[in-house]
Amino acid sequence: MGGKILAVASEVFPLVKTGGLADVVGALPGALAHHGVEMRVMVPGYPQIMAALKEAQPVHRYDDLFGGPARILAGRTHGLDLLIVDAPHLFDRPGNPYLGPDGADWPDNWQRFAALSRAAADMGQGAVKAFVPEIVQAHDWQAALAVAYLNFAPSPAAKTILTVHNIAFQGQFPATIFPSLGLPDAAFAIGGVEYYGGVGYLKGGLHYADAITTVSPSYADEITTPDYGMGLDGLLRARRDVLTGIVNGIDTAIWSPASDQHLALTYVPRNFIQRRQANKRAIEQRLGLQEGDGPLFCVVSRLTWQKGMDLLVQCLDGLVGQGARLALLGAGEAALESDFKAAAAMYPGRIGVVIGYDESLSHLLQGGADSILIPSRFEPCGLTQLYGLRYGCVPVVAHVGGLADTIVDANEAALDQESATGLKFAPVDTSALARAIDRAIRLYADRKAWNSIQKAGMKTDVSWEKSAKRYALLYKKLLENRHEAR
Ligand code: ADP
Ligand code: GLC
Repeated sequence: MGGKILAVASEVFPLVKTGGLADVVGALPGALAHHGVEMRVMVPGYPQIMAALKEAQPVHRYDDLFGGPARILAGRTHGLDLLIVDAPHLFDRPGNPYLGPDGADWPDNWQRFAALSRAAADMGQGAVKAFVPEIVQAHDWQAALAVAYLNFAPSPAAKTILTVHNIAFQGQFPATIFPSLGLPDAAFAIGGVEYYGGVGYLKGGLHYADAITTVSPSYADEITTPDYGMGLDGLLRARRDVLTGIVNGIDTAIWSPASDQHLALTYVPRNFIQRRQANKRAIEQRLGLQEGDGPLFCVVSRLTWQKGMDLLVQCLDGLVGQGARLALLGAGEAALESDFKAAAAMYPGRIGVVIGYDESLSHLLQGGADSILIPSRFEPCGLTQLYGLRYGCVPVVAHVGGLADTIVDANEAALDQESATGLKFAPVDTSALARAIDRAIRLYADRKAWNSIQKAGMKTDVSWEKSAKRYALLYKKLLENRHEAR
């Protein structure tokens, strides 16, 4: 099918990750290579990236890119062809890619991500002869301005796709920044980047993109409604004809219970029941949990309102009261962190909590816990339920977005047909979550039914196979229309 695509993003696994965006951006190039698509990834030159790519070669230079000299470097690592925006005045800062040491957004994020976008748009106009992309695919608000820049570029310029991983994050800035962005005056309009009197990066991208994708079909529908659109639903309804939902896959080489180095014991569908026990023991030891007959639930999550973690806090007495246990790995809002720490102190041996980010423990939890709880209020796709399916860690999920699209609820019909892969609940509130936890505890006691849910999950195709094909088709369609007027 072919196509040269420049993906632009603020994170890429395994170099910089705060969430699922990094996993997806890191996995797509490999998945698409099977379809003849050549995808390179443009990312900011954070210290972690510069350190991993000492050999990278300069392919373009700027005397002044939003306040200082900068270069575009090209390099290869971990099987990824990267283009790095080396702009030390913007990106040479340790730690979280978005937040300063005080935990607040960097005040110059508008320049940092306008610079990333500007560099991508320049490549979309052929600034780097060695790789002239036919399509620039911008991921989330941090890259969205590339779409606006390319809209005003003289042709020939790359076609544009904006991929929305989370519409809650919009890149909203005061109008005073507009003159510094280098966009024509005409762009500061309702039909442009103007948004409630300020500048909206995501909004502008959604307005100008040749195509818009998001990470599941249900979320594509949801964001056209006021309940989920976070103010952008009207624009998305107007652009419904170019909006598609393509569900994420997972990197099945990294997430494979048969070869996962982070597990105490690896396993395959033939021997998983016994061998997962060793991983459960390892979790118990690591988190100071007692052994027990009831299920061991786990959570691997950002601790935020989106993820419904406050609802789970309300369900912990009931969970423990019925003989279940919880192992939680997460970081995020201070109030939630302290609620979970307090719960662990109240129920020693029954609730174990690790506050922080730990890639290795996130694998062990999937490989040893019985079930993963995901009570999200909204979830564009969600990856942890897909890891759960693959690892036989039964997902209990809210019926929203990508969670709704990827899990088959254990209702009577699905249990009879052995097609159930998890439990879904709605509405997303405390009592429905509590009922879902009860239902999981009861099902777990019926070991035959539970094992059949695990097996069906492990058999589910959660690879990139199908979705990579959908992206490849979308690229093909866009390139066929290349000569159409905008
Ligand atoms: P989101 O991107 O909204 O946070 P996803 O489910 O798409 O949600 O992706 C989350 C990713 O981040 C998964 O790979 C998950 O394993 C990982 N993750 C989340 N919290 C932690 C943590 N505290 N430690 C390690 N990995 C985490
Ligand atoms: C976002 C969403 C999550 C999705 C991820 C990758 O962070 O919150 O649902 O899985 O992006 O697309």
